[in-house]
Amino acid sequence: MNNNISIKIENLEKSFGEGKSKVSIIKDANFSLNKGEFVALVAPSGAGKTTLLMILGCVLAPTSGKVTIGDEIVYDDKWLVKDDRALRRTKIGFIFQAHYLIPFLNIEENITLLPYENKESPKVVKPRVKAIIDYLDMSDKLKSMPSELSGGQNQRIAIARALANNPDIILADEPTAALDKQRAISVVKMLKKITREKNVTIIMVTHDDSLLPYCDKVLSIKDKKIDIKEN
Ligand SMILES: Nc1ncnc2c1ncn2[C@@H]1O[C@H](COP(=O)(O)OP(=O)(O)O)[C@@H](O)[C@H]1O
Ligand SMILES: [Mg+2]
Repeated sequence: MNNNISIKIENLEKSFGEGKSKVSIIKDANFSLNKGEFVALVAPSGAGKTTLLMILGCVLAPTSGKVTIGDEIVYDDKWLVKDDRALRRTKIGFIFQAHYLIPFLNIEENITLLPYENKESPKVVKPRVKAIIDYLDMSDKLKSMPSELSGGQNQRIAIARALANNPDIILADEPTAALDKQRAISVVKMLKKITREKNVTIIMVTHDDSLLPYCDKVLSIKDKKIDIKEN
């Protein structure tokens, strides 16, 4: 077993619907990603980017094939993972196009929600969150409300929230789409730094080709086939 692999996909197929209304989205996908890699996922609208991310995040079942996360086979023509919610809570962080911070909780409460949900103790969570928020240069905002922050700042808090459970993998679905160019680049640099310093694998959906040079690999979906290129 290669201990450096964080995600392995074998013979993966995904379709929606049955019979005449069956729509095939992904066919015969095979790829693996290493720990600490920063990976872009590009494809036209409707090609299946979000679907693939949701499969990698164990939110959505493939139609067939095998999904391995770290050293655990989570799906092999059926779910093998005993507790998919626990797997998501402990190993995977999600970032979306909108930040989805909870408006009536302050920044600290938003970030600590998941670790406390995981029954981690404040003794462990508080210093970790402090380290993350210092790392993202947002330490003066812990007691602020989401409505008091700009779009770029809220997206950085969404990154902090995705890091709060110490995940091995972060799945980011168009995290920079709502940001202007300069802020998009700053978020992408931050994500790259996280892959390097925390050995987290990050898969980022993007429509912006100018962000691709920051990534180690580019995954693309074309005619239902997944292609992977080293950058
Ligand atoms: N739950 C679903 N049921 C049926 N079709 C779906 C479902 N989710 C997504 N699709 C279809 O799968 C295709 C891929 O969707 P999606 O993964 O959201 O694409 P992308 O993120 O690349 O824009 C689209 O044609 C979409 O309509
Ligand atoms: Mg999408």
